[in-house]
Amino acid sequence: MRTTLFNSVLLVAGLVGAATAIPTVWVTGDSTTSIDGGKNGTQGWAQYLKYSFGSNALVNNSARAGRSSRSFTRDGRFDQIGALMKSGDWVVIEFGINDAGIPQNGSTKTTGDYLRAVCPGAGNETCTVVYGTNITEVVQTYPTYVKAASQKFLDLGAAGVIISERLPTNVWESGSYSYTPTIYSYYNQLLTTELGGPSSHVYYVQHGSYAAQAQKLLGADIVNANYPMDHTHSSPFLADVHSQAFVLGLKCGTSPLGNLIVNATARIETALGPCLTANATIPI
Ligand SMILES: *[C@@H]1O[C@H](CO)[C@@H](O)[C@H](O)[C@H]1NC(C)=O
Ligand SMILES: *[C@@H]1O[C@H](CO)[C@@H](O)[C@H](O)[C@H]1NC(C)=O
Ligand SMILES: *[C@@H]1O[C@H](CO)[C@@H](O)[C@H](O)[C@H]1NC(C)=O
Ligand SMILES: *[C@@H]1O[C@H](CO)[C@@H](O)[C@H](O)[C@H]1NC(C)=O
Ligand SMILES: *[C@@H]1O[C@H](CO)[C@@H](O)[C@H](O)[C@H]1NC(C)=O
Ligand SMILES: *[C@@H]1O[C@H](CO)[C@@H](O)[C@H](O)[C@H]1NC(C)=O
Ligand SMILES: *[C@@H]1O[C@H](CO)[C@@H](O)[C@H](O)[C@H]1NC(C)=O
Repeated sequence: MRTTLFNSVLLVAGLVGAATAIPTVWVTGDSTTSIDGGKNGTQGWAQYLKYSFGSNALVNNSARAGRSSRSFTRDGRFDQIGALMKSGDWVVIEFGINDAGIPQNGSTKTTGDYLRAVCPGAGNETCTVVYGTNITEVVQTYPTYVKAASQKFLDLGAAGVIISERLPTNVWESGSYSYTPTIYSYYNQLLTTELGGPSSHVYYVQHGSYAAQAQKLLGADIVNANYPMDHTHSSPFLADVHSQAFVLGLKCGTSPLGNLIVNATARIETALGPCLTANATIPI
């Protein structure tokens, strides 16, 4: 009897603890997301995300420069988050910049920025490569890596997973505005649907498209001045804009994570543009 009462107290305490715990938003990605961006004074967008959550959520920026969905997986970085996260946390997955190319045999480099090209394809295709001192790796497609990571987090009790579209390069680079989503935008929509979409707590945020819209509104002079190093890595100012563009995309979708944003939508839209039209085929 005493044991039962004790267990009940523990159970209630546990429930209260779970209900009041502040969720952590774990952000994964590459140098356009990570701390210090591409170095040389540039910055990654997720460094600014915490300001839009106030005290409603913590943000852990786990993005790492040079990584693709493949090398982030091989490094064990999704696994590290899985080991640290608690039930009710959120995970943002944003790759696609370093995933391009064809997996190659014969590399002598085995870590870091190397060996990051995914196997081409939208399904379960694989590419076997041999490198280093006879290491064999069965390389998967982008959807396979992102779906495996997402499913892992959902199985561990994540409140949801946000599949996020990679950022554009400078949309004013050619002298006039230009933005075309990449194959990874298509893969993201496809894999979000295959994972079950919003009813399975998997949401798609068209981050790259919202960032492109924000860059269009800022104009060529400001945007050009905020890519100090190359057309990929932005200044802290533009990284902050890109973070706010993510937040706008989040608030324009149906994810409950959007309810934790402290800023009002109207205030955000004034600076960053309206919600983008998404039809029923886009699982936001
Ligand atoms: C950073 O700046 C230094 C010196 O300005 C330059 O040599 C280096 O190539 C830059 N790094 C990158 C990654 O562009
Ligand atoms: C953020 O997450 C990483 C794992 O991705 C972990 O190594 C790091 O300690 C975390 N940072 C904080 C402040 O918890
Ligand atoms: C790969 O996907 C195809 C088409 O969905 C399926 O028929 C096949 O069994 C799968 N192969 C493996 C090894 O999972
Ligand atoms: C790499 O080498 C292995 C073993 O010889 C071979 O099966 C595979 O097709 C090669 N992969 C590529 C991408 O050339
Ligand atoms: C490389 O590994 C394969 C499979 O593990 C093995 O059959 C082969 O003998 C190894 N080659 C060398 C040169 O070590
Ligand atoms: C929300 O407000 C904070 C604090 O003023 C600011 O840092 C952040 O960029 C804002 N977020 C958006 C999306 O406007
Ligand atoms: C919805 O959007 C998708 C992807 O952009 C497009 O292929 C499709 O034609 C659109 N459908 C309708 C009914 O507008």
